[in-house]
Amino acid sequence: MTNRYAVILAAGQGTRMKSKLYKVLHPVCGKPMVQHVSDALNQVGFDETVIVVGHGAEAVKAQLGEEFHYVLQAEQLGTGHAVLQADELLKDKKGITVVLAGDTPLLTGETIDALIAEHQAKQAKITVLTALAEDPTGYGRVIRGANGLVERVVEHKDATVEEQKVREINTSTYCFDNELLFQALKQVGNENAQGEYYLPDVIEILQKQGEVIAAYQSPTFSETFGVNDRVALSEAESIMKKRINERWMRAGVTIIDPAQTYISSEATIGQDTVIYPGASIQGASVIGSECVIGANSEIRNSVIADFVEVKQSVIHDSKVESRVTIGPFAHIRPGSALGEDVRIGNFVEVKKSSLAKGSKAAHLSYVGDAEVGQNVNLGCGTITVNYDGENKYKTTIADGAFIGSNSNLVAPVHIGENALVAAGSTITEDVPHQALSIARARQVNKENYKKSN
Ligand code: UD1
Ligand code: CA
Repeated sequence: MTNRYAVILAAGQGTRMKSKLYKVLHPVCGKPMVQHVSDALNQVGFDETVIVVGHGAEAVKAQLGEEFHYVLQAEQLGTGHAVLQADELLKDKKGITVVLAGDTPLLTGETIDALIAEHQAKQAKITVLTALAEDPTGYGRVIRGANGLVERVVEHKDATVEEQKVREINTSTYCFDNELLFQALKQVGNENAQGEYYLPDVIEILQKQGEVIAAYQSPTFSETFGVNDRVALSEAESIMKKRINERWMRAGVTIIDPAQTYISSEATIGQDTVIYPGASIQGASVIGSECVIGANSEIRNSVIADFVEVKQSVIHDSKVESRVTIGPFAHIRPGSALGEDVRIGNFVEVKKSSLAKGSKAAHLSYVGDAEVGQNVNLGCGTITVNYDGENKYKTTIADGAFIGSNSNLVAPVHIGENALVAAGSTITEDVPHQALSIARARQVNKENYKKSN
């Protein structure tokens, strides 16, 4: 087996993004572009992967993790100069090296596989992944000789009017013979429109040495799309969104309006779940089977079991068991856990709280820092008073308790099993099990208070 190496170019600032965030860290469907590229590489499998970092080096490392080699390109003198930073690590190794740009998030593992297969079939020293662009503006053009073979790549800014008409573009993804790559890189100069050391110049160098240069044309242009500005970012987002949505629809999920449904690349969704327009399923959320995710719901990093119905609600970093219904207009904040058959109704906020099986907070409640047992009924307007301006305190409510409407439970406080809190109570002391607690001013009726005229 030939050894396989990979280099991801991720040192550029991404000036055209006009952003504080480094270009390759801009997310597409919730995942940074460079992470998409490295995930595609992982699908293929390489012996060693080197990431060239510069701008935002620490942030890129933090994103991709420890499993890679990182080399620093302190000054961004061009893509050729970028690959040269891996010289010490790679130059003497026998094998092939795939080079990719960190700003091509749509590239798939299958295409990288096909590129390598073509490289080996043609016994080439370089194989360029090319694509036919509707509008090639800005891209490097692939210049082929009379025999149809690739001779060189010319950058848009260096191209003649004639060359600019070429629609076959360089996607910035290549497979190289490793040793020849590093030999040729040392001959690359920077006499061009941008004064940069261009990686694609190694093509002309090796071609002139008589080496075999091949090209593999991607069947779709969209996959090779390079993101340089926010317009392209939004196009990448919509292509990726379509890809993700189609994958889930093929797996048995109903998406009423895919154009308006946002599912992160990390999320998973079970069969026969129905997703309504405007829903946004973010992060590594896991959604079970036969759920209904209502319009404009936002679910982030949450685990949702089967048969759950979410109507126009927000759920972040929480766990929801089977047959729970949530909303409309509920807010489940981080650290919450809703047991089976729990019902959370309209205008209810739950924060860092658990409600066990069968409990209900059907209307207008705040449940914060609370541990609620099974089959508890939190009447309309129940509030856990968990904060005194400095510290947060816990409320515990045992199984079967019934909290009357518009009650304040001033924490720390415990409501015993099957206890009953009368409507309108402000509870400041623990309530024993099975007790009825009334904590409100008595009603006084003043007869004939308003005299008739
Ligand atoms: C590059 C190609 C062009 C191709 C296009 C495809 C060159 C000279 N041109 O142009 O032929 O059609 O991609 O999208 O290679 N980078 C570094 N260090 C540098 C410069 C760039 O790490 O010194 C990284 C960037 O972070 C980026 C990648 O290399 O991830 C590509 O650089 P970019 O400036 O976007 O190149 P393009 O102008 O798009
Ligand atoms: Ca680019």
